Amino acid sequence: MQLFSLATLLLTGSTFLANAQPMTEDPRAEHIVNAFRHAWSGYRQYAWGHDELRPLSNTTSNSRNGWGASIFDGLDTMLIMGLEEEYQEALEHVKNVNWYSTTEPSKTFETNIRYLGGLLAAYDLRPDQVLLDKAVELAETVIMPAYDTPNGMPAAYVDVKTGKPTNDKNLILAEFGSLQLELVRLSQLTGEQRYAEIANDVIYAIDKVDTPYPGVYPITWNLDTFSPSSSYITISGGGDSYYEYLLKTYLLTDGQEKQQLDMWKKSVASMEKYLRSDTSGGMVFLAEIQENYKLLRTGELVCFIPGNLLLGARYLGDSELTTFASELMKSCYDTWAVTPTGLAPETWSWIDKSQNMSSFPDVMQDAMRTTGYIPRDLHYDLRPETIESIFYFYRITGDSKYQDMAWKIFESIEKYCKTASGYTRVDDISTATEIKGLDFEESYFFAETLKYLYLTFTDPSVMSLDEWIYSTEAHAFKLEKPIEVQAKF
Ligand SMILES: *[C@@H]1O[C@H](CO)[C@@H](O)[C@H](O)[C@H]1NC(C)=O
Ligand SMILES: *[C@@H]1O[C@H](CO)[C@@H](O)[C@H](O)[C@H]1NC(C)=O
Repeated sequence: MQLFSLATLLLTGSTFLANAQPMTEDPRAEHIVNAFRHAWSGYRQYAWGHDELRPLSNTTSNSRNGWGASIFDGLDTMLIMGLEEEYQEALEHVKNVNWYSTTEPSKTFETNIRYLGGLLAAYDLRPDQVLLDKAVELAETVIMPAYDTPNGMPAAYVDVKTGKPTNDKNLILAEFGSLQLELVRLSQLTGEQRYAEIANDVIYAIDKVDTPYPGVYPITWNLDTFSPSSSYITISGGGDSYYEYLLKTYLLTDGQEKQQLDMWKKSVASMEKYLRSDTSGGMVFLAEIQENYKLLRTGELVCFIPGNLLLGARYLGDSELTTFASELMKSCYDTWAVTPTGLAPETWSWIDKSQNMSSFPDVMQDAMRTTGYIPRDLHYDLRPETIESIFYFYRITGDSKYQDMAWKIFESIEKYCKTASGYTRVDDISTATEIKGLDFEESYFFAETLKYLYLTFTDPSVMSLDEWIYSTEAHAFKLEKPIEVQAKF
């Protein structure tokens, strides 16, 4: 691991200028639309109809059943950005997709967030019966069959040809515990209550399961016993959207899912009490738990949480929670700001301020002194989480410093991730040189990342948080009754 220089640290973090630009027509929004156009044209030219383009070799991959995941994930982004021609072409693909064309089982969670979520969001933005018909067809073909188990808990995979759950008994909290937002919206749009009921029942069942940390659960579960099969607790991948959706489902149902709000509040209290860890440099992170040990490690995937906490804090008028969310936000952003590339590592650890620094190896002490944390996995995977939280902070506080943060991140992405046909992950965020020449690519099309960036620079009345709720895949669902969470710009 290469350590970042002290000079880099000193040069960053203190350059935010007050921004008095008018709220409309921010030229930065147009740059982000151009980034989307660039990625889309590469995908369209070399990978149309496949799930993803590999943006270095211009070859394709199909990680999500080959139904054209990039198209479904991009539908609402195209409508929001006003890319009409691109949208019409995408809609043609959507109309003609055949769910039975796949040879792989459908992963219930991924199909739900990408395909069902993408269809519903596009429908909410521009109602077109074909989108809702496709959504119902998909739900009936591969999502509802997942619940066809002895105890009604959704299986991780469904065999598309037979319409039966596969025999896999392993469940992941975020996968079975965050299907409800999309299915509630499907019920609201169709008037058919089965979808919402079957998904919400799983959440109520989770609430009945014992845990030493109220509201917070291990990530691996057994389908038959419907109980945790290990003690490993994380808010990162495997846990993340479970917590996120408790609040969002409450908001989407206009407060009807009070039990889910209570579950969210309980989980947030436990995050603060058991997972919170402060460094002597003032950073605040959420740790993990295994066998009652607190593991001081986290990663970019957890950086959605500041935005989710701020949304809840603003809605509930909870100033203490606002402070907690802000501490986490600043720390997430600083993991980007202090690196030579301005890109954040995938994972990192740290030394808690209660620990004796000098008892740790020099390399760890040096990292704590120079960057404030200890980078572990140095990839950047085009992840949206910190950008997503910045979007919430900008829209909810109205403070333009968050736009400047988003812009700095976007500039780093442009500089280090852009290829001739799209955007690629980078494998070492600590080496500011040689990144572009790496023979390393990832099949990933980042409509989600660009959507949050774009919406941080549009007029804030566009896709207002008062009127829309965003899924874990950044798909926007219309609130039947507006709420008041955005700043008055
Ligand atoms: C991929 O496509 C772009 C854009 O058409 C092109 O400039 C580039 O050379 C291609 N790369 C490879 C490896 O063929
Ligand atoms: C901290 O650790 C160092 C090195 O292990 C040790 O010499 C020192 O006594 C410790 N300080 C405290 C306050 O425990």
